[in-house]
Amino acid sequence: MGGMTAPSLDIVKPRIDRGLDDIYVKETTICLVDGEKGRLLYRGYDIRDLAKHSTFEETVFILIHGRLPKREELDKVRADLAAARPITKEMVRLLKEMPKDAPPIDVLRTAISYLSNFDAERDDASRDANMHKAQRLIAAFPTIVAAFQRVRQGQRVIKPNPKLGLAADFMRMLTGKRADKLSARVMDVALILHADHSMNASSFAATVAGSTLADLYSAIVAAIATLKGPLHGGANEAALKTMLAVGTPERAEEYVMDTLRNKGKIFGFGHRVYKTYDPRALILRDYSRQLAERGGQMDLFQVAEIMQETVVRELKAKQIYPNVDFYSGLVYHLLGVPPDLFTPIFAVSRISGWTAHVMEYWQDNRLVRPLDYYVGPTEAPYVPIDRR
Ligand code: COA
Repeated sequence: MGGMTAPSLDIVKPRIDRGLDDIYVKETTICLVDGEKGRLLYRGYDIRDLAKHSTFEETVFILIHGRLPKREELDKVRADLAAARPITKEMVRLLKEMPKDAPPIDVLRTAISYLSNFDAERDDASRDANMHKAQRLIAAFPTIVAAFQRVRQGQRVIKPNPKLGLAADFMRMLTGKRADKLSARVMDVALILHADHSMNASSFAATVAGSTLADLYSAIVAAIATLKGPLHGGANEAALKTMLAVGTPERAEEYVMDTLRNKGKIFGFGHRVYKTYDPRALILRDYSRQLAERGGQMDLFQVAEIMQETVVRELKAKQIYPNVDFYSGLVYHLLGVPPDLFTPIFAVSRISGWTAHVMEYWQDNRLVRPLDYYVGPTEAPYVPIDRR
């Protein structure tokens, strides 16, 4: 490259926050991740209480409205989410036109982008219109993910049943069969547990798009695109693959020890914020035990148990504990869900947090426009093409 390099121009080299690790971008009342105590709160409510007593629909209300619903409000949010669950024939046609081997998370991203063009309120920026759009998006995600799963397997698309809760109906639309009580509850809890996790990469992507005053759909498409990456949405797939590759409990300790000896990382362990057990992992661990017992797959659960015991024992000093991904992949596998749907299911849940974050940001909007520090040439001579 020609020309002088005058990196800093007349600016003293600033501190560069790679990955924005230590930057706060807004005040929030949506979600607290307490990494020291291993606590996760949505609007002040402990995730452990929600996993025990709540439903995904109630969690959606909590995230979006900031408080527990009264009975009539809960009935209404359930009814609204059920009423908005059907997708159009045109959407099903679009899904059928996708290559069968397309990653389902890409198909979801395309489908939501398509959907935006049919929403009469798309460019209405009022809070009411955004609330409606948020509900329509939350309702449409499970139907789209399930419909593509059916289509790519050459199966009939199952229409939603408004009498069922969102999680149970999602399972039914995926499999064609009504889910048993335990499976439906496990899916409901998994959706509750993934609904928000403070200012993570996809919520930030949604916030950046939203900060330009683009519409809610555009913000959500940016979030889905961001969730796709294996550093964000994909770790549970990798964790499950490891467990399946280990195969038998007898090999689990040896696998962990060998990996650590070779300075490898074990997927599903460690977290930027949690320095103890991720509370979501503990809840899903109990459910994976129940599902494994019922399905005669205790060997796989034992693989997970021994891997966990070994990692926690060996890496105690580094504060490495299982994160949500270690058990969510196992739970979905035990529910019969194929691995490439794990990230789309994450999106089915996280759409609630994304919409809450963007709407919160809009209450005090400021265009996100950070700086970068130029270190390239400043006097590059423009050479005509035949003389380069
Ligand atoms: N397996 C083995 N060792 C691990 C580990 C893992 N999963 N996670 C962290 N460590 C070790 C690191 O090697 C490092 O050791 P060192 O200090 O001797 O170099 C130390 O613990 C600190 O890890 P570091 O990668 O600096 O922590 P981080 O906060 O930057 O990273 C993660 C957090 C999540 C990126 C990291 O733990 C990881 O890669 N985990 C596996 C992938 C995963 O499960 N991702 C999903 C997260 S929800």
